[in-house]
Amino acid sequence: MDPRRALSFGAAAEAYAAARPTYPVDALRFVLPPGARRVLDLGAGTGKLTSVLLDLGLEVVAVEPDDAMRTLIDPRAEVLEGTAEDVPVEDGSVDAVVVGQAWHWFDEQAALASVRRVVRPGGTLGLLWNVLDDSDGWPLDLADHIGMEDRLSLVNDTEEQPTDATSGRWQRQLFRHAQHADADLVVSNLASRSIVIVMPDAERTVHLDKVRSVVPDGEFDIPWVTDAWVTTL
Ligand SMILES: C[S@@+](CC[C@H](N)C(=O)[O-])C[C@H]1O[C@@H](n2cnc3c(N)ncnc32)[C@H](O)[C@@H]1O
Repeated sequence: MDPRRALSFGAAAEAYAAARPTYPVDALRFVLPPGARRVLDLGAGTGKLTSVLLDLGLEVVAVEPDDAMRTLIDPRAEVLEGTAEDVPVEDGSVDAVVVGQAWHWFDEQAALASVRRVVRPGGTLGLLWNVLDDSDGWPLDLADHIGMEDRLSLVNDTEEQPTDATSGRWQRQLFRHAQHADADLVVSNLASRSIVIVMPDAERTVHLDKVRSVVPDGEFDIPWVTDAWVTTL
């Protein structure tokens, strides 16, 4: 994977905040330990996951390396500059670490060492990814058209755990949800993806124009599935 992509998101921070889907509350409940109070959102981006955690009444520490992304995080959280490999949080001070759409960008071994250090014994690590339900219709056309990686058909059949850096047992659940949208929002969603951000300008324009030719006219729902994994530490 192109290493420039991991830290490319800030160039499209506004599009990211406006057009990426949120996460269902039930998926968060699934990855949190009973009685959780203080949670770390690692690679928090613009705070999509942070806001859901705050709305659940939790105390949230949001760690994000990119300045443009970090400034958009809900100020009710404790927002810190940092990385998964170097987390500016005290030992054993959180009940859970949650990671939305970001674990694959981390150095796995170093990130896991950070997680083990900051989570109290019996706490959890929860990993979540929103993937497009590409079962049929325009989502299937869109996913094919743009060579989408985060699509349900690619994750549905795998029971492979999300990281082999831990010997812990993982549990997994899928959570369906929908995002109200129009063609402009789908284009913004695509424009906030690292693979598109790092494209040369001309290629990006062609790519995004193609998207408009596939999605429906007017308003519609985007069918998302949150692929959620949890392990107890
Ligand atoms: C696809 S975004 C996900 C943002 C957010 N968690 C969400 O669910 O919307 C990936 C985020 O991971 C951040 N990131 C990349 N490498 C990282 C690292 N090594 N440590 C922490 N965050 C990292 C990027 O800056 C970006 O904000």
